[in-house]
Amino acid sequence: MSESSIIVERHDDVVCLKLNRPEALNALNNQMMGEVKDALEKLDRDDTVKVIVLTGSERAFAAGADIKEIAGKTEQDMQAQDFIEERWESAARCKKPIIAAVAGYALGGGCELAMMCDYIIAADNAKFGQPELSIGVIPGAGGTQRLTRFVGKSKAMDMTLTGRMMDAEEAEKSGLVSRVVSVEKLLEQAISDAKKIAKLSQASVKLAKECVNQAYETTMEEGVRFERREFHALFGTRDQIEGMNAFIEKRAPDFKD
Ligand code: CAA
Repeated sequence: MSESSIIVERHDDVVCLKLNRPEALNALNNQMMGEVKDALEKLDRDDTVKVIVLTGSERAFAAGADIKEIAGKTEQDMQAQDFIEERWESAARCKKPIIAAVAGYALGGGCELAMMCDYIIAADNAKFGQPELSIGVIPGAGGTQRLTRFVGKSKAMDMTLTGRMMDAEEAEKSGLVSRVVSVEKLLEQAISDAKKIAKLSQASVKLAKECVNQAYETTMEEGVRFERREFHALFGTRDQIEGMNAFIEKRAPDFKD
């Protein structure tokens, strides 16, 4: 196997995973997605890690699946390999918060990978798109479903059918990204967000993530019931006592998870 195509950087209890195939604009090949999957599964099990930041380079978060690698595959190859399901969905399955810090191109599978994260912070040079139809296929890593939920049917259809890219400003207005910052400040902002989340009670972080994700999977009534149960459950934790006492005593909370 060639040298690693991701870089893992530790910032206390935050880990930054950097996609690193600059020669191919971080096109997501089998090796890279295997490494992303292994790293995310390991970080998810590691109690000393609280939040993950997934990023690429200033020029590209990722320009999609590696077209050169998949061009010669047959239908049988794709099914036998369980392409996407087997390696890519680790980001959507991760229990810890993952922030996507996106600069440059986030196209095809790159846009889909960013959307699997909990939220996206975009650099002002970010460009999002689902150009798969231009190469004779359709989005295959959840793009037709997640993009539609993020930006609504009209824009999702427009981007998917015409393949046009959305810039950072439009992406923020449409709800695809939570914030836009300058490209120079992107990582600093994402890591600062991650550190802020890492200081909270991780029981409440985990349940909040589950509850927000539940909103995509269920009816309003069911979702609210789900949230209520989790809210009540947190009253069985020491961190709830600590958080509320700290507020009353006008001091910073010392959460112990
Ligand atoms: N796969 C493989 N290689 C890629 C790639 C990709 N998705 N995107 C870029 N590259 C490679 C290019 O082939 C080129 O390599 P060489 O120098 O060896 O020729 C290098 O990265 C730089 O790319 P360009 O010269 O094309 O750079 P550019 O600035 O002119 O254009 C771009 C940038 C608009 C992103 C263009 O590269 C592009 O359109 N890339 C393909 C985007 C795309 O179609 N993505 C969808 C892939 S399919 C998919 O993702 C399916 C799915 O849903 C899972």
